[in-house]
Amino acid sequence: MFRACDEAANILQSGGSALDATQKAISVLEDDPNTNAGVGSNLNREGDVECDASIMCGSTGAFGGVSAVKRIKNPICAAHKLLEGDREGPGKLGLVPPMMLVGRGAEEWASIRSIKMCDNTELITDTSKAQYETFIKMLEEEQNPTFSSQKDPGESLLNDTVGAVCLDINGNIASGVSSGGVAIKLPGRVGEAAIYGSGCWAGGDYVDMDHYISGCSLTGTGEQITKTLLAKSIFDVSVQNDDLYTSISRLLTKHFINNRALSKYTDKYMGFGTVRCKKTDSRISELEILVAYSTPSMAYGYMTDRLSKPKPAKVQRKIQKTRYQ
Ligand code: GLY
Repeated sequence: MFRACDEAANILQSGGSALDATQKAISVLEDDPNTNAGVGSNLNREGDVECDASIMCGSTGAFGGVSAVKRIKNPICAAHKLLEGDREGPGKLGLVPPMMLVGRGAEEWASIRSIKMCDNTELITDTSKAQYETFIKMLEEEQNPTFSSQKDPGESLLNDTVGAVCLDINGNIASGVSSGGVAIKLPGRVGEAAIYGSGCWAGGDYVDMDHYISGCSLTGTGEQITKTLLAKSIFDVSVQNDDLYTSISRLLTKHFINNRALSKYTDKYMGFGTVRCKKTDSRISELEILVAYSTPSMAYGYMTDRLSKPKPAKVQRKIQKTRYQ
């Protein structure tokens, strides 16, 4: 995480864009075998890695997402490429460029656009394989109660989806997210990391009435986050309320924890980081970072132009807030 922050900060400090910095931070995390994204992702029911990723540009509202991709080394790079097409809009024949692609179609599209491809086995690690074998055994035991061991999957079934939110020198904000999805998911399952309005959101300054700009990136149980369109919901309250902490706390209680649409779930898991600031012309002020989660733990890091090095943190079940004036 330290390196993800550091490399993104290097891009921003040399005048690079928020989108490029977001892509870089997430690529570093995808290449880290310890995260559930890119290399080292959870395996699906058939023992393959299938990744989801998306990225959004706050200044233009452009978005790109890929889902259930098995052969793209860094899914966030393919998502960024799709975003570029979405930002350009329809071509000469009026053909609408895709905003989101899945599976084989996404892989073929990416492979002819210089996106780095790989074999699925290159994304599998000894750890992810061992976890897969444990979970498959548990699943078999669950389906055959005679041999049920009643084992608690504990933290090992949790998702280590990765994400980033970056703000550049021109006051553009971007956010992105990447995930291998839940362990032993069914092939073709689409997680929140690929879905518009769910896994990440960035915006503000292209909507005239707003004076805040904001971006967020989420993790948790994909189906719950998608049903609550949580990224868009977090963004909306962030740009509509001065008191970020109170408005987000209210949103999470009403819209996530007590949401009737999620009433069948005993455990409701989400975690996110959001960055918000005021933008007047291109001047940025009142930068705030808020991290909240209902997952048992959450790791995050941040870096600003006032820090000499990134600040990483791993925290257990509480809300953390940092304010910069
Ligand atoms: N947060 C990962 C997923 O549920 O797909």
